[in-house]
Amino acid sequence: MYWGKKGPDNTDATIKAALNRAAELNIQYIVVASSSGDTARKLIDCGRRVVCVSYHVGYKDSGSKSMSNETMAELNQKDIQVLFTTHLLAGVDRAIRNQFGGVYPAEIMAQTLRMLGQGVKVCVEISGMALDAGLIPFGEEIVAIGGSAKGADTAVVITPAHSNHFFDTKVNEIICKPRQF
Ligand SMILES: Cc1cc2nc3c(=O)[nH]c(=O)nc-3n(C[C@H](O)[C@H](O)[C@H](O)COP(=O)(O)O)c2cc1C
Repeated sequence: MYWGKKGPDNTDATIKAALNRAAELNIQYIVVASSSGDTARKLIDCGRRVVCVSYHVGYKDSGSKSMSNETMAELNQKDIQVLFTTHLLAGVDRAIRNQFGGVYPAEIMAQTLRMLGQGVKVCVEISGMALDAGLIPFGEEIVAIGGSAKGADTAVVITPAHSNHFFDTKVNEIICKPRQF
């Protein structure tokens, strides 16, 4: 499914398409990018195991989270696990860029994936982060949902690999993405 334009207006349709495909393939785990928790909240009681990946603590302001404690508690109470950890496709490479300028492998990999749209890059990244954190099982197809800065516009079926074998990642299906981005 291709949406006309990128962005958060596609959130509800993306979640619907993702859940339909998860049901068709009997996929149990959904990994969703949600910085504030707003997109993840739409998956409450969706009948699947949901992992919400947010920005790492300090992404915007040192020491602070992009999600309120109330939202985190609400998601946890509804059995949605929330992960704040180092971004797989930025990591310390971003520190080298910030300190010295230039561009380094992880960010080149991220930019290459963005040729398919921001959301595909995000889906690859967050599913690897969830796998490394032990929040999804190894070697299983999952559905990942990502977006362009806010909300969701992309969903994929993916078999993520651990960061130390990142290139074993398999993007099995693109369920939906924006056609223009
Ligand atoms: C770890 C992580 C990395 C992200 N990277 C990007 C990115 O490279 N480009 C982009 O447009 N959005 C990126 N996002 C934003 C997500 O795709 C998504 O739109 C957003 O987290 C939804 O948050 P909300 O529920 O607060 O609207 C990223 C989000 C996370 C959690």
